[in-house]
Amino acid sequence: MISYPPEPFRIKVVEKIQLLDREAREKVMEEAGFNVFNIASKDVYIDLLTDSGTGAMSDQQWSAIMQGDEAYAGARSFYRLKESVEKIFSFRYFIPTHQGRAAENILAELLVRPGTMVPSNTHFDTTQANILARGGRPENLVISESEDPSTRYPFKGNMDVAKLERVIEEVGTENIPLGMITITNNASGGQPVSMENIRQASEVYRRHKIPFFIDACRYAENAFFIKSRESGYENKPLLQIANEIFSYADGVIMSAKKDAIVNIGGFLAMNDEQLFNQARNKLVLREGFPTYGGLAGRDLDAIAVGLWEGLEESYLEYRVGQTKYFGERLLQIGVPIVEPPGGHAIYVDAGMMLSHISRDIFPGQALSIELYLEGGIRAVELGSVAFAYEDPSTGETIYPALEMLRLAIPRRVYTRAHFDFVVDVFGRIMENRETIPGYRLTYAPKLLRHFTAAFEPVQ
Ligand SMILES: Cc1ncc(COP(=O)(O)O)c(C=O)c1O
Repeated sequence: MISYPPEPFRIKVVEKIQLLDREAREKVMEEAGFNVFNIASKDVYIDLLTDSGTGAMSDQQWSAIMQGDEAYAGARSFYRLKESVEKIFSFRYFIPTHQGRAAENILAELLVRPGTMVPSNTHFDTTQANILARGGRPENLVISESEDPSTRYPFKGNMDVAKLERVIEEVGTENIPLGMITITNNASGGQPVSMENIRQASEVYRRHKIPFFIDACRYAENAFFIKSRESGYENKPLLQIANEIFSYADGVIMSAKKDAIVNIGGFLAMNDEQLFNQARNKLVLREGFPTYGGLAGRDLDAIAVGLWEGLEESYLEYRVGQTKYFGERLLQIGVPIVEPPGGHAIYVDAGMMLSHISRDIFPGQALSIELYLEGGIRAVELGSVAFAYEDPSTGETIYPALEMLRLAIPRRVYTRAHFDFVVDVFGRIMENRETIPGYRLTYAPKLLRHFTAAFEPVQ
């Protein structure tokens, strides 16, 4: 019997959802060009497209919203957020942004030049796209254990530090404007990164004088994994673990839509005063005055409170336990997933589940379509549609290691019965999986194509 953790909250507000009948779902899918991003939310029954900005805010956050100070400059809301950010992240400077990719854009504009390279364990799609958009080359150096979905290595999101050393030797420090690590490692199965690995990567970056930025949107879930899996951390408070993580870096980009459990918001924080001044100028140009970024004062207050709620141990026990329950139940019925289950999502190995579909006709996309047709469930392909790209110097197509379908879990939103429903739908798909067709692209932009691409089934 797989256990499900009781929610450390009770429900005060509800939102109605409905399951359309099969015929209506087929019509919706065709009209969406076989891309679930084009489906209206009202037509989705269980929405596992993303955990970003889709969480349920608490009564404390909603009351903080009522205290939002909407002054253009120097709002109280800014100072409340500043206090939370300083206590958890401990960088000297920070600026709010409207979401994570706005912080990425500013950083990439300031640092990335054509022909330069930015290493990470694995870049997420928006980070990858922001580096490519400036003519840079994103380099993924995740450990090889991550390529085998069934290996139960506790920190499968880790960076291969020896590889990092080799790549720096080959490319030269002058061609590496910054180095990164993503916690948890979203594009590699939502897997955590150990403290030891962050420390080692930091040591390499610092020895080579390469500024080290952490993509920190799921830092609290990562801190919880460190506490539960890494020896020496079992008795440390999560705040102390977070402080230690960030002590190894020179800055962070943060999408608050994840572990700060808000619907919009992000920030960029760093220690370098000169870089901060430049970032602030870019912010004024594109996002807004430095004390509000692209946000309303009330949004800043919701983040200030949410950052602490996202770091509570009882909440994280429930959150990670819920993901584990979902993943273990899928495994039980034979669905291949990335193991062990991570923090915010379950990643189905669609390449394996639909092995009759070759990667040029997108098994992950095919599974996302089938999941909606069978059960009104929405999930996102994270395989060759999202991540394959042309190397700017060679023109060669670089494929991701795995063809995955991500079932992301919005925070504090769905109950055990919802997950059981999704597992039942997967059960039905498993029975008829050989009949599922592949899909070919009929439209695709050059960058971030999965958001707006259109497809047709391959007969
Ligand atoms: C690891 C990672 N980095 C960056 C981002 C970008 O954040 P945002 O969606 O707020 O722009 C995301 C969003 O999904 C993410 O998962």
